[in-house]
Amino acid sequence: MEIRRLGSVSLDVPVVGMGTWQSYDVRDPALVRPVTDAVLAHGARLFDSSPMYGSAERVLAAVLENRREAAIVATKVWASSAREGRAQIARALEWYGGVVDVYQIHNLEAWQTHLPYLEELKAQGKVRAIGLTHYRQSELGRLADIAAARGVDSLQVPYNPHEREIERVVLPLAAERRLGIIVMRPLGAGALVGSSPAARDLTFLEAFGIRTWAQALLNWGLSDPRVTVSIPATRKVPHARDNCDAGAARRFDAETRERVAALAARP
Ligand SMILES: NC(=O)c1ccc[n+]([C@@H]2O[C@H](COP(=O)([O-])OP(=O)(O)OC[C@H]3O[C@@H](n4cnc5c(N)ncnc54)[C@H](OP(=O)(O)O)[C@@H]3O)[C@@H](O)[C@H]2O)c1
Repeated sequence: MEIRRLGSVSLDVPVVGMGTWQSYDVRDPALVRPVTDAVLAHGARLFDSSPMYGSAERVLAAVLENRREAAIVATKVWASSAREGRAQIARALEWYGGVVDVYQIHNLEAWQTHLPYLEELKAQGKVRAIGLTHYRQSELGRLADIAAARGVDSLQVPYNPHEREIERVVLPLAAERRLGIIVMRPLGAGALVGSSPAARDLTFLEAFGIRTWAQALLNWGLSDPRVTVSIPATRKVPHARDNCDAGAARRFDAETRERVAALAARP
């Protein structure tokens, strides 16, 4: 699995990680142990969570158990008040052994309130990197403005052949300021993998070590060198392996990327 540095933070991240929205929102951590074991065994390390994802944050901590060090935990604060935010952060620090690797402000919710506190925690070594996230294309300009003004370490944004808005402002800013880019929704929340092109239309991807349509979509995002890590979510062990294998693929050139984008745009 290829490793990339998260912007200017001394944090080396395997390029395929794991989202936990919906998939880790389960009552019993044993239900996600097989998929967690599979991604760790196949070289992925970064797990992304949030208090917005129901039980996912707690379940992730439980399933990591005595192997917390094997994972890079990227979670979020998602709260409208300082009091609620601090309670979320205290809980997560307890769950994750006193350190959260990447602490993100979910959808910029009350960012002015949470950012100074995360900066304090970073100075104390309890947080290694601070990030901002937003899922909406129309908010990416605001996200970039805040990142440019306040100097965070990473941005988590949607990026797939149907959602390319980050190419306008966010990716150029990431290159200029050495920000990490965490790609959410690389498979379009499932919509893009739902219908794969015919196998005969994917043979041109074999030269890149790509065997499946999901891998083609993941490699599409990872082929931009300004991207640090892609975090597909899955409940299934074979899909987890499939996704991790894209981490070792040969990256697409510009022409191949546009061929994949054209396949994703087919009716
Ligand atoms: N505002 C924010 O901060 C924000 C917003 C959205 C997402 N996120 C983060 O980004 C992560 C990823 O985004 P997402 O979960 O919305 O969508 P996604 O990763 O683009 O797509 C997930 C869907 O793809 C399917 N899938 C995964 N691997 C597959 C494979 N190899 N073959 C076929 N299908 C596959 C999954 O189904 P199966 O279970 O059947 O594999 C699931 O339905 C989230 O989990 C979350 O951590 C953050």
